[in-house]
Amino acid sequence: MRSPLRHNVMPRIVVPDEESIAEAVQRLAAGDVIALPTETVYGLGADTLNPIALRKVYELKGRPSDNPLIAHVLDAAQARSLVADWSHRAELLAERLWPGPLTIILPKADIVPEEATAGLPTIAIRSPSHPVARAVLDAFGRPISAPSANRSGHVSPTRAKHVAEDFPDGTDLVILDGGSSACGIESTVLDLTTTPPRLLRPGAVDAAQIAAVLGADVLTPAVGQQSASPGTSPQHYAPRTPLEVLERTAIPARLRATSRPAVVITLGDSDIKPPHHVIDMPSDAQGYASALYDALRRADAMRPSVILLERPPRTTSLWQAVHNRLARAAHG
Ligand code: TXA
Ligand code: MG
Repeated sequence: MRSPLRHNVMPRIVVPDEESIAEAVQRLAAGDVIALPTETVYGLGADTLNPIALRKVYELKGRPSDNPLIAHVLDAAQARSLVADWSHRAELLAERLWPGPLTIILPKADIVPEEATAGLPTIAIRSPSHPVARAVLDAFGRPISAPSANRSGHVSPTRAKHVAEDFPDGTDLVILDGGSSACGIESTVLDLTTTPPRLLRPGAVDAAQIAAVLGADVLTPAVGQQSASPGTSPQHYAPRTPLEVLERTAIPARLRATSRPAVVITLGDSDIKPPHHVIDMPSDAQGYASALYDALRRADAMRPSVILLERPPRTTSLWQAVHNRLARAAHG
């Protein structure tokens, strides 16, 4: 069996075609880890039913062993094989919102190893819409557990090269290049083990959409409230450089107070001049979300003294999901 760290190998970005997908599936079947694109962020995938393969995911990511994984499935039929009780609510959501960026949590089936759920009696499941993720799931024929394909605590990857950057030479990792992720922020996580169901992580699918499908209320955590999802603690998704989220009008004074160059992430025209760098963002929520992690990674790579980010609007649920990620990136 391949060891995750070897001297003569490095992360390898490949164009997804019949041959590379066959290689990825072969690796999954051999109990190895692959990186694959999804519509939200890239994932580090392994066979959900293979505990040894799952341990390699934790090891590669440097992920705490108490942070459970999301199992990716082709469809509701495959999801049913992983749960003890496929509820009517689950069926409705899968029918209407899958494939897509919605993860649901249900009591797990006995066949699911504890490595897939970090010992929890519940399992998180979603069916991704990205064609490459679907092609891999289809060819593999089994569920794939995949956390975001970043080193633990770092910004999630939305491009193949982000994944390659996070894993050093010596990592035997095939990365299927599916282009830049359309959603750009991680899936909505919904706990379906409670009544009413509870939103644990906001994402592109919002509480109103879920409530409309279920014809029932959805609990949303109050701002700042600690959620029951282990990986949703503050201090997550963080760039290495300190990040400050500021009103547009406060940025010039903040720049005057820095002695070294800063990177400013703006929403349109600004008169910021060298030595400071500007990264201009799309002004629509969808475009912004999809560009955010790439912007944070690019800003970080310039090794500035600080990253100043112009506070975006909060006018829609997607902007609010963006704010949820910004709050964590700026934590501490
Ligand atoms: O969009 C996504 O969800 C991406 C792509 C790759 O699908 N995946 C992703 O995985 O964001 P990860 O591991 O970075 O985040 C999974 C989140 C974590 O906050 C984890 O704690 C939570 O889902 N989670 C997983 N299983 C859970 C469970 N049984 N109960 C509560 N939370 C769970
Ligand atoms: Mg993650």
